Amino acid sequence: MSAKIIDGKKVSEITMDLIRDDVEKWVGAGNRRPFLKVVQVGTDPASTTYIGAKTRACKRVGIDTDTTHLSDTVSAKELKSTIRSFNNDDSIDGILVQLPLPLHLSSHDVIESIDHKKDVDGFHPMNVGRLTVDQPTFKSCTPAGIFELFRYYSIPVKSKHAVVVGASNIVGSPMATMLSRENSEGKATTTICHKYTKDLTQHTIGADILVVAAGQPNLIKAEMVKEGAVIIDVGINRIADETTEKGYKLVGDCDFNGLKNKASWITPVPGGVGPMTVAMLMKNTLLAAKKSIYPEE
Ligand code: GUN
Repeated sequence: MSAKIIDGKKVSEITMDLIRDDVEKWVGAGNRRPFLKVVQVGTDPASTTYIGAKTRACKRVGIDTDTTHLSDTVSAKELKSTIRSFNNDDSIDGILVQLPLPLHLSSHDVIESIDHKKDVDGFHPMNVGRLTVDQPTFKSCTPAGIFELFRYYSIPVKSKHAVVVGASNIVGSPMATMLSRENSEGKATTTICHKYTKDLTQHTIGADILVVAAGQPNLIKAEMVKEGAVIIDVGINRIADETTEKGYKLVGDCDFNGLKNKASWITPVPGGVGPMTVAMLMKNTLLAAKKSIYPEE
């Protein structure tokens, strides 16, 4: 079987065009332009790249944004007090603190200090909790983007066996929640695998849909999946490559070349899931501006 390619770049552009139209309608109706506040602590180059992509996406859809840069030695107290000032600023709709944070800071603490009504990443326990009980919420952007891809390509999820490899708070765990809830769009029988899973292949081989977010290049090989599986590769790993201008190339967690002759659908890296994550951030920021998730009394 030769897999069809899930073109996340194309779908993200279509999605962002629709969001741009919605933003213009919102602004045209006399509302303030949505505003996303990004916070970067330190100068991690990968974080700088991701923030660059988010800033460009804002520009594309007509959302205002700026980034507050804080030193990698900032105290938890100072960071949280900065976030509180953004919580209280009515001109800010969405707040995003780029992760990972330096080791002396607790990401749990910092995320909880964000007003959940402005938590466009969907990482605040209030939003995570609401996701698990099928309440309107800011959905974590990567899983939400993967569901957009399922919808766009009419890939059925209901009653399928979905296997998620990786149980992170950002991707694996909310992905498994969205796949498994019987009252959500998921309705899949869902298995979560992680680094303590004993025989990974025993689980992946049964997957109709395999979502891999483990941060391990080449973890999933052709012999680990069944013929016709849908492969969603969330991994973005930098591998040294002297032949490229940057000195590295990006690869996912899956052996794309081996899998492309066995899967029915597959996401490339780059150009698969990544662009959809950014598009969903734009969607969440517009929802925050419209107060759609948490209406004001
Ligand atoms: N670091 C890696 N992915 C993400 C993300 O989706 N949001 C934030 N804030 N940080 C990240």
